[in-house]
Amino acid sequence: METKIIDGRVLSDQLRKSIKQKVCELRQNNIMPGLTVILVGDDPASQIYVRNKKRACEQVGINSNVIRLDNNITEYELLGKIHDLNEDPSVHGILVQLPLPSHISSERIINTIDPSKDVDGFHPVNAGKLLAGQPYLAPCTPRGIIKLIESTGEDISGKHAVVIGRSNIVGKPVSIMLLQKNATVTICHSKTIELDKIARQGDILVVAMGRPQSITDKYIKTGAIVIDVGTSRVNGKLLGDVVFQAAKGKAGWITPVPGGVGPMTITMLLENTILAAQSSSVL
Ligand code: GUN
Repeated sequence: METKIIDGRVLSDQLRKSIKQKVCELRQNNIMPGLTVILVGDDPASQIYVRNKKRACEQVGINSNVIRLDNNITEYELLGKIHDLNEDPSVHGILVQLPLPSHISSERIINTIDPSKDVDGFHPVNAGKLLAGQPYLAPCTPRGIIKLIESTGEDISGKHAVVIGRSNIVGKPVSIMLLQKNATVTICHSKTIELDKIARQGDILVVAMGRPQSITDKYIKTGAIVIDVGTSRVNGKLLGDVVFQAAKGKAGWITPVPGGVGPMTITMLLENTILAAQSSSVL
């Protein structure tokens, strides 16, 4: 069958136009939306992600500030920086790029960010709101995934969605969002037995395992919507979890890597920053 491409770059460009418009409206009301990103250490992948986030902010008129900190910074010092940003009214969004060095607890850092500035949507308050059906600042990659699926024009309601991966960043929140859209959801993970058999039942298949090129056509139902969240850098090349050439001809729709989920994650970060800035004016 013909496999259609879900182009995350095209969808992102469309959405960024309306984000730019919202930024103009905020600026007219003397609110200058601002995002501060904290980058600890010199992980090459994190450097690229942070650079892309800063560039996207500039493109739509969001003030962005990157705080680069030495790998040896103590957890206490980093917590102090976050407390300062929590108190700074010009900062609407705070993002601490993960992973952090092993001597720092990501959990303690995330839990210290003011939930109303938590544009990653990782704070337990925001995770709880999503679970309770009152989403506010929800995680960016899952939000992007839902928009990519909806862009196909297919209805999520009633479909069987299979999610491979159970991380707090992607697998768990996207499962909740799909459930909220009335999908029947199965969550698979590294201990799942007969993964291929279960994956093959998915009208929607979201793959967020971080194991490059591990999902072939035998995991895909004919006509399924396949969302590939994998972004592994192998020999300088960005690889998804899905073998694109094997999925082609079997899936109904598929997101490419790069150019699928990645651009949408950043676009949702921009949307969350706008949301946080808008909320700051009514608090
Ligand atoms: N590292 C990889 N993905 C993400 C993300 O979505 N947010 C943050 N803060 N760090 C990341």
